[in-house]
Amino acid sequence: MNLNQAAQAIGVSAVTLKRWLISGKVADVGRDRNNWRVFTAADIERIKQYASNSQETPKLAETGASDKPQSSDYSVASFFTGIGGFDIGFEAAGFSISMQCEVEPFCQSLLRKHWPSVPLHPDITKLQNGDIPQSDVWVGGFPCQDLSLARMGKRDGLRGSKSGLFYEFARLVREGKPRVILLENVAGLLSSHGGKDFGIVLSTLAELGYSVGWRTFNSKHFGVPQSRQRVYIVGCRGDGRGPGEILFESERGEGHSAKGRPHGKESAPSFQEVIGDPSGEGPVIQALAYCLYATSARHTGTDWSRNYVCYPKSGKVRRLVPSECEGVMAFPKGWTIPTKTTLSADDLDSARYHALGNAVTPPVAEWLALRIRQYLESRDFPEASQKFNASLYTFKNDGLGQLALSFGNNDLETIP
Ligand SMILES: C[S@@+](CC[C@H](N)C(=O)[O-])C[C@H]1O[C@@H](n2cnc3c(N)ncnc32)[C@H](O)[C@@H]1O
Repeated sequence: MNLNQAAQAIGVSAVTLKRWLISGKVADVGRDRNNWRVFTAADIERIKQYASNSQETPKLAETGASDKPQSSDYSVASFFTGIGGFDIGFEAAGFSISMQCEVEPFCQSLLRKHWPSVPLHPDITKLQNGDIPQSDVWVGGFPCQDLSLARMGKRDGLRGSKSGLFYEFARLVREGKPRVILLENVAGLLSSHGGKDFGIVLSTLAELGYSVGWRTFNSKHFGVPQSRQRVYIVGCRGDGRGPGEILFESERGEGHSAKGRPHGKESAPSFQEVIGDPSGEGPVIQALAYCLYATSARHTGTDWSRNYVCYPKSGKVRRLVPSECEGVMAFPKGWTIPTKTTLSADDLDSARYHALGNAVTPPVAEWLALRIRQYLESRDFPEASQKFNASLYTFKNDGLGQLALSFGNNDLETIP
C-alpha cells in the first residue's frame, strides 16, 4: 500500500500520516526500490492503534494543510504527463491522480509502470471531456519546443504544432471547468512573439472564466541541485484572489531548501551526491548543475546544459549518465528505467535524457500542490484555514520583472 492508500485505510489525511512518520510519533515503514514508502497490513494496524490512542486533535499541519479526512480528498487530472513530475508532487501532497495523457511511448511505458491503475490516454487531440474524470485540479506542462530559447533560431510560438497544443487543453477546459488549473513552461513563453503568446495564454484562460496569475520559480530554491527556471501559471475558476494566494506567500516562504522543506521531508541530494565516481578519482563538478534540456543528450550547438564531470588527474571529461540526471531533476533513482524495453542501450539512454530534460522537478510540483491544497481547503473549510487566508498581496514579483528585462521585453509587465 502506498502513503495515500494507507492514509485512507487509517482514516487520516496523507499529510497527517506523513507528519506522524517523520516526527517519529509512529515508527517509519519500509521503502520500495524507488524509495517510496510501502505499508504492510501490520503497519496499518500499528498506526491505527496509535491513531485511536492519540490525544492529538486535528490541527493545521506544519505546512498549513489541514487534516481533512481522506474521503473528501482532492484529485488531479494530468495532461502532457511526460514522466509524471507533476504527478509525483501532487501525490506527495495528498492528491489522487484521476487520469494521465501522454503521447510519447517511452513516457507511457514509465507511466504504466509507476501508475498501473491510473487511466492513460495517448493523445490530447483525441481526448474528449467524457474521458476525463471529475477532478479538482488540471495540470500540464504543454510542449515547449516552439517556445524554448534552447532551440536557436525562429520560434513558432503558439502557432507551432507542439506548443499550439495549449489550445487543445483550452478546448477541454471550456467544458470541463476544473476549479484550479496549473500550467508550466519554459521562461521563453514570456518573450515568444514579443510577449503576445503569453498574453494569449492568459487571455484564453480569462475568457474561459479563470482568474490567472503566474510566477517564475527556479528549482534551485527548492533543494534541487540544478538551476532550472520555469514559469508556472495558475488559474482559479471565478476566484480573483485564488492565484495570488497560491503563488505568493504572505510571509517568508518555507520553500523546499534542505533545512526547510515542509513537514521535514527528506531533501533532494546535492549535485555532488548524485554524481557517481566509478574510478575513485574524485571528479570535479560545479556546485549546481546547469539546466537540463530535452536536447541535452546530443553533442550539438544547441546543447546548453554544459553539465560535464571532470577528472583532473586523468584529464577525462564525461557527460552525466541518466541516473545522475534523475538526481539532478530530484526524481527517485531508477525512475526512468522501464520494466521492459526493445530499445538499444544508446537509444534507452537518449530516451531517458530526453524525458528528464522535459520534466517538472517534483519538489516544485509538490510545493505548488500543497499551496493548491491549502487554497481548496480554505474555500471548503474556511473555519480551519485562517492561517492561509492571511493577506497575500504585498509580494512584489521581482523575479519576473528581472526576467522580462533580461529578455528585453518590458511590455510583459503590462500584460494583465
Ligand atoms: C514539456 S513535456 C511535459 C513533461 C512533464 N511535465 C513531466 O514532468 O515529465 C510535454 C509533454 O507533452 C507530450 N505531448 C506532446 N504531444 C502530445 C499530445 N498530442 N498528447 C499528449 N501529450 C503530448 C510530450 O510527449 C511531452 O512528454
